[in-house]
Amino acid sequence: MIKTTYKSDAERIREMGHRAFVGGDGIHWDEIAKLQFNFLISEGLQINHTLIDVACGSLRAGRLFVNYLNAGNYFGIDKEINLIIHGVAEELGISSFIEKKPNFVVSGDFDFTKFSRRPDFGIAQSLLTHLTAEDIYLCFKSLRKFIAEDGKFYATFFEVQAPINNYATSDAIDCFFYSRDQLNSLADVAGWRMQYIGDWGHPRDQKMIKLEPK
Ligand SMILES: C[S@@+](CC[C@H](N)C(=O)[O-])C[C@H]1O[C@@H](n2cnc3c(N)ncnc32)[C@H](O)[C@@H]1O
Repeated sequence: MIKTTYKSDAERIREMGHRAFVGGDGIHWDEIAKLQFNFLISEGLQINHTLIDVACGSLRAGRLFVNYLNAGNYFGIDKEINLIIHGVAEELGISSFIEKKPNFVVSGDFDFTKFSRRPDFGIAQSLLTHLTAEDIYLCFKSLRKFIAEDGKFYATFFEVQAPINNYATSDAIDCFFYSRDQLNSLADVAGWRMQYIGDWGHPRDQKMIKLEPK
């Protein structure tokens, strides 16, 4: 597939706004925030757990998780610093930032080792939808090494029944599509056991998978 845009992410965030850039325009901002929050609560997330929000963006769900978890237990990682700045300044607020002490790392190659503690839970909402298979593998492999031994990692994806020809390079706006088998293979070689959860109520029909260390 041919890429549709050549602008930097920083330029695109300025033009589109930090919510629209992550696909959070209109009702999708609060709706997909609550969806993620309620989903992880239903999977057993408690205030004393540590959570990594992989590709936290502008803290759409992050602001709910930061305020719910004990201070210092939220870890957000994203490749785009401008999104985190907007997220803290305009979505979370400085008083919650000071009180709840969230941890942030800016990294485009999934350098989880910059965090000081291992997460019990992880979520990547609409990250795999913007990554090549090589970058998904890097994410899976790096988080597998870092997550707690009984950790759980949830990720969403656009599902196709058979593999298609995706873009050659990852992109924060262009969409990527994978089959269940493709993700299962990537998870398996990266050291995870994958469970297909499927529909979890996402308004754009992204499906959910759950990964646990093998
Ligand atoms: C569709 S947004 C979703 C953001 C957030 N999870 C949410 O629910 O609002 C995709 C995010 O992935 C981030 N991203 C893309 N590639 C990344 C990479 N290699 N490492 C870290 N973040 C990445 C983008 O900067 C963007 O914030």
